[in-house]
Amino acid sequence: MDALDLLLNRRSIAKLSEPAPEGKALENIIRAGLRAPDHAGLTPWRFVISQGEGLHKLSKILVQAAQADQSEASVVEKVKNAPFRAPMVITVIAKVTPHDKVPAFEQHLSAGCAVQAMQMAAIAQGYQAFWRSGKWMFHPHVHQAFNLSGEDQIVGFLYLGTPGCTPMKVPERDLSQFVEYL
Ligand SMILES: Cc1cc2nc3c(=O)[nH]c(=O)nc-3n(C[C@H](O)[C@H](O)[C@H](O)COP(=O)(O)O)c2cc1C
Repeated sequence: MDALDLLLNRRSIAKLSEPAPEGKALENIIRAGLRAPDHAGLTPWRFVISQGEGLHKLSKILVQAAQADQSEASVVEKVKNAPFRAPMVITVIAKVTPHDKVPAFEQHLSAGCAVQAMQMAAIAQGYQAFWRSGKWMFHPHVHQAFNLSGEDQIVGFLYLGTPGCTPMKVPERDLSQFVEYL
């Protein structure tokens, strides 16, 4: 796949089914994440892969967080089912190293770049991915379950699998609405 074509036409697909990427394809996805821009070489990334039993563990973590907040039963049910929307979920964590010149914000951005790079690598290999977030990314129980400390932050849950439909057309956008010259 042509790099520029991928950059200009990338779409996310929420409907994902088996198979999830495995072997070399999964390794390429992780390696793409590891190529995220990285100020001062701090490598501020952790990738926690859930599939099979791992999806049940992720579901349990989210349910415990929702229950800790005394959420309504419908919310608990929703988070319980959430991880099963794809055969694989990679929780992407910004692992923050305190640094004079590289604030936590930059390290969080770097982990965000890793998420998009991983989505692109998935698409380039015939898979698809959907970047999800939500308030559970910030929940102390979820942070504890994933061993976060300090200014570490979950920056996304990247759902991965094989696309169950064709992507929607890329929206036409007028560049002049977004670009200014100083
Ligand atoms: C940080 C971040 C978090 C996101 N979280 C969600 C989410 O929780 N649920 C959702 O439906 N879309 C979420 N999105 C948006 C989708 O991943 C996707 O980009 C959007 O549906 C637009 O589709 P496109 O990527 O094909 O343009 C998030 C995007 C970003 C950058």
